[in-house]
Amino acid sequence: MKTVSNPAVGTAHGKIILMGEHSVVYGEPAIAVPFPSVSVVATLTEKSGSITIESDYFTGELDQAPHSLDNLKAAVQVTCEALGQFASGFHMHIQSTIPPERGMGSSAAVAAAVIRSLYAHFHRDLDREQLLRLVNVSETIAHGNPSGLDAWMTSGEIPVYFQKEKPFEPLPLQMNAYLVVADTGQKGQTKDTVRDVSRLEQLYSEEARRIIRRLGALAEQAKVAIQEKNPVQLGECMKKAHSQLMTLTVSNAHLDRLVAAALYAGALGAKLTGGGRGGCMIALAADRMAAEKIAAALEHAGAEQTWIHSLGGD
Ligand code: PMV
Repeated sequence: MKTVSNPAVGTAHGKIILMGEHSVVYGEPAIAVPFPSVSVVATLTEKSGSITIESDYFTGELDQAPHSLDNLKAAVQVTCEALGQFASGFHMHIQSTIPPERGMGSSAAVAAAVIRSLYAHFHRDLDREQLLRLVNVSETIAHGNPSGLDAWMTSGEIPVYFQKEKPFEPLPLQMNAYLVVADTGQKGQTKDTVRDVSRLEQLYSEEARRIIRRLGALAEQAKVAIQEKNPVQLGECMKKAHSQLMTLTVSNAHLDRLVAAALYAGALGAKLTGGGRGGCMIALAADRMAAEKIAAALEHAGAEQTWIHSLGGD
């Protein structure tokens, strides 16, 4: 009798921070959404000998993989330990459409897909709690101290409202609108921008704190707009958040150009998303036609890639 699935497949998707980046570090609320337009598929097949992988970044023995794949190594290691299996005897094909280092959760999504493929291979049940625990352990080994948000968003289907040290609150988002996401083509600079906001906060604590509280209040208003299914109000919150983020120095000329292009093309709102000074920006569109016009304007203004994501009203 066969006791393993061969091949076995695991998947996960991207995430987007809708509101509250940076201010969330200081205890203010934030909202993130799953972003299934980009995803990872891990396909595991049995073979003899050491583990081999095939991906866009590296093909060969897992042991020889570069540091950029530390998350994958860590995910395999912690999962085999949890399953009580030797880390050998398979080939793993990783296919990802999530651009790395853009704040879309690429690393956590790779880990989640790999973990799911290993559990599927050994026919073992994997509940959400165990998946989140394993993704967070592998993210900690690979990168340090994850907030847990990327693990949650890349493996779940429902947006969340969250605050530091509080449990994630599901925030169902279903409105008649579209999110247009654009990649600047530049790596996000989360580490630098978080450090610079902290310096601003130390040097100009009153002013910086005011901006941070304002960003928190905008995330709160965005939550109400989502609950009331009001895209116009949500768009207003996004516009205002972008100008506060500019004041915090976490935007750059490219992001500002894309935000301006989206608004000029009719977006209800637009802002950077994630750490900033690169990475991605988002815009809100009233309908699909508007979303297509905005996406075209963003590409014309220099976006490397754009995606249109329905917020579920159609
Ligand atoms: O760039 P991302 O998606 O990893 O998001 C960073 C979000 C920040 O609020 C800037 C930092 C943080 O740890 O919350």
